[in-house]
Amino acid sequence: MKNNEFKDTSAIIDATEAAYVNVFKRQPVVLTRGKGCQVWDADGKEYVDFLAGIAVNILGHGDTGLARAIAAQAKNLIHVSNIYYTEPQAKLAKTLLEKSGFDKLFLCNSGAEAVEAAIKLARRHCQTRYKIVTAIHSFHGRTLATLTATGQEKYSAPYRPLPPGFSHVPFNDLTAMRDALTNGEVGAVLLEPIQGEGGINCPAPDYLPAVAKLCREKKVLLIFDEIQTGMGRTGKFFAHQVFGVQPDIAVLAKGLGGGVPIGAMLARGECAAAFKPGDHGSTFGGNPLACAAANYVLETLFEKNLIEKAAKTGIYFLKRLQKSAKQFKLEAVGIGLMLGLRLGVRYDGGQLVDKMREKGFLINCAGNNTLRFVPPLTVGKKEIDAMADALDTLLRTENN
Ligand SMILES: Cc1ncc(COP(=O)(O)O)c(C=O)c1O
Repeated sequence: MKNNEFKDTSAIIDATEAAYVNVFKRQPVVLTRGKGCQVWDADGKEYVDFLAGIAVNILGHGDTGLARAIAAQAKNLIHVSNIYYTEPQAKLAKTLLEKSGFDKLFLCNSGAEAVEAAIKLARRHCQTRYKIVTAIHSFHGRTLATLTATGQEKYSAPYRPLPPGFSHVPFNDLTAMRDALTNGEVGAVLLEPIQGEGGINCPAPDYLPAVAKLCREKKVLLIFDEIQTGMGRTGKFFAHQVFGVQPDIAVLAKGLGGGVPIGAMLARGECAAAFKPGDHGSTFGGNPLACAAANYVLETLFEKNLIEKAAKTGIYFLKRLQKSAKQFKLEAVGIGLMLGLRLGVRYDGGQLVDKMREKGFLINCAGNNTLRFVPPLTVGKKEIDAMADALDTLLRTENN
C-alpha cells in the first residue's frame, strides 16, 4: 500500500484506535477510494457499497462533476462568515425553496444541527407550548436536545439530566398521538416519515395524513426529519410527498452535499418568521464550499432524473428482497432505495454484515435486527442482483 505515514492497514487501525475516543464500533477496513457504487480498501479489495456513508453519497463515489464543483469553489472562496452574502448560498436557498415549497430556510453542517434548528424554531414560535412529541425508535441526532428527542433510551440514558420538554409515543399509533396532544402543552410533533436507524419502519399509508390533520386541529407544528428519507431516497424528493403530507418544518442533511457536510432546516407559514436576528446562527453553516457541493448535487439529481431512477430501481430491489424474504421466511421492508430485510431471531444481523463484507458488499444492521440497504441513487440492477445472490447464499448457510 502506498502510504508514507503508516506501513499497512493494521497500523492505520491501531493509530486511529489509540487516538480516537471510544465511541465507534468500527469494521476492520481502511477505505481509500471509490467510484460509483464501488469502494476499495487499502489492500486493494473491492466492495459494492450499499450503505453509501449511511444514505449520504447519493451520487455515488468519485463523481468528477462534484469534485470539479468543489475544487472550483475552493479556489475562489471556501468560507466567509454569514455576516456576508455569497452567491452559492443564495443559489442553494432559492433552489431548495423552489423544489420544496417551503418559505424560509436555515443552513447548517449536519443532521443533528438541522433538527436542533427545527426544535429551536418550534420553541420560538410556540413559546409556552414548548413540549415536543416524538416517536419511540426514532433517531434525531447526538446533541443533547436531539438525543433527548430520539426515542431510544440507550442513546440518552448516560447523559441525564436531559433537557425537558420531550415525550415519546409509539410510531404508527394514532390513538397514542391523539392522547399525547390533549393537554395543550405540546407545540410540535417531530417524526421521521420512515424510521431509519430504528429499522426501516414504514407507517401505515393513512398514519402521517391523520397525524397532520390532528396537528392542524390542535394548532401543533408538524416537523418531519427527512435527513435519511429526503433527497430522492424514497423515490420522491421528500418522503412526505410519498404520503401526501406537507409538514410545517422539514430537515435535510446526509444526501444534500453528496458527502460534503451540510444540513438544512426548511419552514413554511407563520412559524417560518419566528426567528429574529441573533436567535440562532452558525459559523460554518451554509458556507460557499458546502453550498457549491449541494448546488451540484441538486442540479444532478434533477437533470439526471435520479429521483425517478431511485423509484424504479427501488421497486426492482424490493421485489428481489421479497424473493429472499419468501425463501427464508423473513420480511422485506421499505420504500424506494431505503430498504431493509428484517431478520427476526433466526439470524444474527451483525454476523451477516461481517460475512457480506468479506464477500465484498457493504451493508449494515439497523434497529430490530434489520439489514439496511441505502445505496447511492445510481445503483444498478446488476449490483443489486450480485448483492442479493451473495446474501441468499449466506442466509442458506447461516440459519441459527
Ligand atoms: C433521521 C435522522 N435524523 C438525524 C440524524 C443525525 O444526523 P447527523 O449524524 O448528520 O447529525 C440521522 C443520522 O443518522 C438520521 O438518520
